[in-house]
Amino acid sequence: MIKLAPSILSADFSKLGEEVKSLEKNGIEVVHIDVMDGNFVPNISLGIPVIKSIRKETKMIFDVHLMIENPSRYIEDFVKSGADIITIHYEADKHVDRTINYIKSFGVKAGISLNPGTPVSFIKDLINVVDMVLIMSVNPGFGGQKYIPYSSDKIREVKELADKFNKDLIIEVDGGVNKDTIKEVVEAGANYIVAGSAVFKGGDISGNIKALKEGM
Ligand code: DX5
Ligand code: ZN
Repeated sequence: MIKLAPSILSADFSKLGEEVKSLEKNGIEVVHIDVMDGNFVPNISLGIPVIKSIRKETKMIFDVHLMIENPSRYIEDFVKSGADIITIHYEADKHVDRTINYIKSFGVKAGISLNPGTPVSFIKDLINVVDMVLIMSVNPGFGGQKYIPYSSDKIREVKELADKFNKDLIIEVDGGVNKDTIKEVVEAGANYIVAGSAVFKGGDISGNIKALKEGM
């Protein structure tokens, strides 16, 4: 089952509650929340109080993508804020296995994300420890960037590992997905598809979601 996971990074933050509700009205089940610390990535986005506020507005699955250094410090806070899936970056934590298990100990799903330059082979042993692998298809930090073509090979690599070792693994792709690139990522094996600018551009959330679904 393929799920489109809109990234609220490209939403209008002055009316975030409405934007989130409008995703739900359009049949969206998973919302992708990008947390940036200005250290792991060269940008600062939103954090715990914002997630808490929108948690009151919707029952959608909160897929929280932590682009922060040493994420273990904040896991409990993100769980309390209402996260359902918490993804950390392989490059941001010296003890990823420990942090993944720590996330799971709260009863939420745990994901591991790879920057474009990090090979899939680095997380081979974690494939049946994590619930999700997130392949970054742009260098993280900003919405609206161009899809990096070799990401499709990385998705295929993860899919092969998942078929062998973890049939329930969620394979997520994030960055540069639009109506022209979405077919390629779905065919490569991704089943959670993040899209930010392609969902919110021009304010036509319904039309944009429809175009993306048709593009699959
Ligand atoms: C990038 C974020 C993405 C981003 C995707 O650092 O992790 O989730 O918002 O935006 P688009 O879909 O516009 O590339
Ligand atoms: Zn993201």
